[in-house]
Amino acid sequence: MLHEFSLDGRTALVTGGSKGLGYAMARALARAGADVAIASRHVEELKAAAERLAAETKRRCEPIVCDVTRGDEVDGMVAEAIRRLRHIDVLVNNAGINIRNVTFDQTEEEFRRILDVNLVGLFLVGRAVGRHMVERGSGSVINLASMLGLVGLAGRPGYTASKGAVIQLTRTMALEWASRGVRVNALCPGPFLTEINTPVLNNPEANRFFIERIPLGRWGQPDELAGAVVFLASDASSFMTGASLVIDGGWTAQ
Ligand SMILES: NC(=O)c1ccc[n+]([C@@H]2O[C@H](COP(=O)([O-])OP(=O)(O)OC[C@H]3O[C@@H](n4cnc5c(N)ncnc54)[C@H](OP(=O)(O)O)[C@@H]3O)[C@@H](O)[C@H]2O)c1
Repeated sequence: MLHEFSLDGRTALVTGGSKGLGYAMARALARAGADVAIASRHVEELKAAAERLAAETKRRCEPIVCDVTRGDEVDGMVAEAIRRLRHIDVLVNNAGINIRNVTFDQTEEEFRRILDVNLVGLFLVGRAVGRHMVERGSGSVINLASMLGLVGLAGRPGYTASKGAVIQLTRTMALEWASRGVRVNALCPGPFLTEINTPVLNNPEANRFFIERIPLGRWGQPDELAGAVVFLASDASSFMTGASLVIDGGWTAQ
């Protein structure tokens, strides 16, 4: 590995790290040398994931239960991650949900819930970890947006709004912290095979609609984000901040 990509001696916090893209990215960071903490709401699933990750990578993996929509829990989780890992070099701000409905059918409660997790939760975690990174004068924050922060899709009003806002919040955090040694970038995945997409995968018509629109002709595998997350986390991306990196099988090239 080129030494610019090495995360030896670094530490990372990954929210939503118990499964899906969060787990795959936490594992990639650990494989590049980082000790990691993963956070999510369901304690048993989280603990099992941390044990599996530590066994797979031989790196330290600390499970910390947290609902990112609760400011008090977020502050406690970040303090605990700093206590266990000594500091945080990398934040992968990844916890997220989707509730699919066309605009006329999306309830106010659904819309608010999506924004609460995907945007407010990401803001709360980013603010808490950003404060710590700015005090230390270094760090890399990776905010999970989506290709659906860049293009629209019928049936996703809350989700597309939340992800577009994540891209804008990323730019503002990047500008505020650039002179303090902290970089902030957005990662914009396309369609990946994780639980969040179960409703699409279980619906043959919706699944076909997706595959026909992915130029590479297939869903992404979670491990196909490994290179991007290690790049953004490491010194390999040292001149990059406020940017959005798209990994979408070509969807947004159309
Ligand atoms: N998969 C895709 O195609 C795709 C594409 C573009 C962007 N993304 C984004 O990538 C991120 C991860 O998605 P994924 O596909 O890996 O989803 P996933 O498999 O459903 O995993 C979501 C993770 O977030 C956690 N989580 C959900 N709500 C939370 C909350 N309130 N507080 C703390 N943790 C919470 C979940 O654990 P608990 O339920 O136990 O809390 C789980 O660990 C999301 O932000 C998603 O929008 C995904």
